[in-house]
Amino acid sequence: MLNIALPKGRLGDRVYGMLKQAGYECPSIEQPDRRLIFENPETGVRYFWVKPSDVTIYVERGAADIGIAGKDILLENRPELYELLDLKTGVCRMAVAGPEGFRDTRERTLRVATKFPHIAGGFYAEKARDVELIKLNGSIELAPILGLSDVIVDIVETGKTLAENGLTVLENVCPISARLVANPASYRFRTDEIRRLTERLADQIR
Ligand code: PRP
Repeated sequence: MLNIALPKGRLGDRVYGMLKQAGYECPSIEQPDRRLIFENPETGVRYFWVKPSDVTIYVERGAADIGIAGKDILLENRPELYELLDLKTGVCRMAVAGPEGFRDTRERTLRVATKFPHIAGGFYAEKARDVELIKLNGSIELAPILGLSDVIVDIVETGKTLAENGLTVLENVCPISARLVANPASYRFRTDEIRRLTERLADQIR
């Protein structure tokens, strides 16, 4: 069995749809129940639903041979795994956002709230801008509203969350999308199988 870690949620559902189209169907995963592991001996796959930010942990440690992870997680955690394919789904961007009209005068340390301290830290280090990083775990948009930070570095998809909280994009950091990743040892030992799956998925994208 090829062990595949799927991110629980909308993105995972969409990627399972792509895998199904690519010939890696698993009927049991389509049942509305709360199980987390599903396998189909006929197609040789075992899927499991994982919290999206945990996918790289399963793949890095070899509990999964391959998985689907957002580029944001890959950039933030820099796990030791192979990035095989841009799935061109889950497309969004990492951006700096803040109150409308905010201008960084560089007069004092900039306070930046984020779930992604490595990405944010690297972005400002390149500009040689002193920042104080405030690591939060969610609802990042609250930080500048309540004066906890000056700006945020966060994911923007539709921009709705920012707009509805009176914030706006100030700078783009980088584009984000879902990636197919592989455990390096699994890739070495199961190269043909993993390559075949990658190519079939690439055909789906085309
Ligand atoms: C993400 C992100 C933004 C929102 C952006 O939050 O942190 O808050 O989605 O989407 P939009 O541009 O389409 O509005 P998520 O739903 O993961 O929640 P959390 O970070 O607050 O946990």
